[in-house]
Amino acid sequence: MKPNIFRIVLLGVSILGISLLHYLTPLHLHYLHDIFQRFYYLPIVLAALWFGFRGGLACSLLVSIAYAPHILFQWGGNLTMEMEKYLEIVMYNVFGSVTGLLAQREQERSQELQRTAQGLEDSLHKLQLQSDRIIAIEEQLRRSEKLSTLGEMAAVLAHEIRNPLGSIRGTAEILRDDYQPGDPKYEFIEIQIKETERLNHVVEDFLRMARPQAAKMQRCSLREELETIVTLNANDADKRGIRLALDGLRDDIQLLADGEKLRQAFLNIVINALQATPSGGSVTITSEHSGENCDIRFRDTGSGISNDTRERIFEPFFTTKPDGTGLGLSVTKKIIEAHGGSLIVESEMGRGTTVVVCLPLQEKPEGGTP
Ligand SMILES: Nc1ncnc2c1ncn2[C@@H]1O[C@H](COP(=O)(O)OP(=O)(O)OP(=O)(O)O)[C@@H](O)[C@H]1O
Ligand SMILES: [Mg+2]
Repeated sequence: MKPNIFRIVLLGVSILGISLLHYLTPLHLHYLHDIFQRFYYLPIVLAALWFGFRGGLACSLLVSIAYAPHILFQWGGNLTMEMEKYLEIVMYNVFGSVTGLLAQREQERSQELQRTAQGLEDSLHKLQLQSDRIIAIEEQLRRSEKLSTLGEMAAVLAHEIRNPLGSIRGTAEILRDDYQPGDPKYEFIEIQIKETERLNHVVEDFLRMARPQAAKMQRCSLREELETIVTLNANDADKRGIRLALDGLRDDIQLLADGEKLRQAFLNIVINALQATPSGGSVTITSEHSGENCDIRFRDTGSGISNDTRERIFEPFFTTKPDGTGLGLSVTKKIIEAHGGSLIVESEMGRGTTVVVCLPLQEKPEGGTP
């Protein structure tokens, strides 16, 4: 039984009980009638507390209806004689409505307080989320600051190694002139020169990487770039038991882009797809163009990405892999945006992920900096 119905039944039964006491008790026991008369206040108070103004008033009216015939028919209905009893009926109604009104106000106030408390709790929760996010961003900034300082130090070191290397090579060449080919010392000095050269290449390569490189914007065939990506990953896909294929690339599209960087971006996406896909799954690359844009879709049948993870995948250093660096997608996004394009990730948990690279088709002037 629902609590409200139970309460109504309880009130009804108690009014009926008190009324029966009145009707069945002989009139000469008037002191008992005086007591029963006060019993009526009990259901009236309860109704007012439980159901507010309307409940209190309804209950006092019901009590009046139940009690009035007893005064009229059993006590004779003499107005002057039974004045006190009629006054009691008025009191029931005043008491029921005033108590109901006060109880109702109190209930409304406590509901208002509850709503305020709930609002405060929500705000606190939001504040906690925001402060967690700020802490995470601060941590990320600290890490990238450390990394960029390390990178600068390594570049200075490489630069300082290059100069003595030039001197070592120069003096070795002078020494070599003192010996004839075939002489063991000549061979040793040759090795020394070759190894110095190799070291020089390593340093040169590193410095080239550390320096921001100017973009080499040129015409490139989208199909060729994608075929290269498939060839590069075919072996890995085979080993994992995944079908990696280009699909429906009928007409070729020529893009004005830095081919090397674009390949790097595509490679990051395909590697992620292969890593997320279980054996027996597939990674399919399709492309379609309409008007000024070209959409390249990398669709995998892998684990998918949860909503929480999806919000963070473009953050540098965010990874869910034990040996990941978390840089793949943030670098990819930068490359695609530098080409005037955009990157969209659609995913469904347990069904797979589709990464859509949208690139503009119109030609751009030479010398941009992707
Ligand atoms: N195709 C995908 N399917 C499921 N999750 C993906 C997919 N691509 C990216 N992710 C999620 O996004 C995260 C970030 O990817 P990102 O390429 O930036 O870093 P990573 O792959 O973890 O590390 P790294 O690329 O540096 O080795 C991944 O750790 C993974 O949780
Ligand atoms: Mg990756």
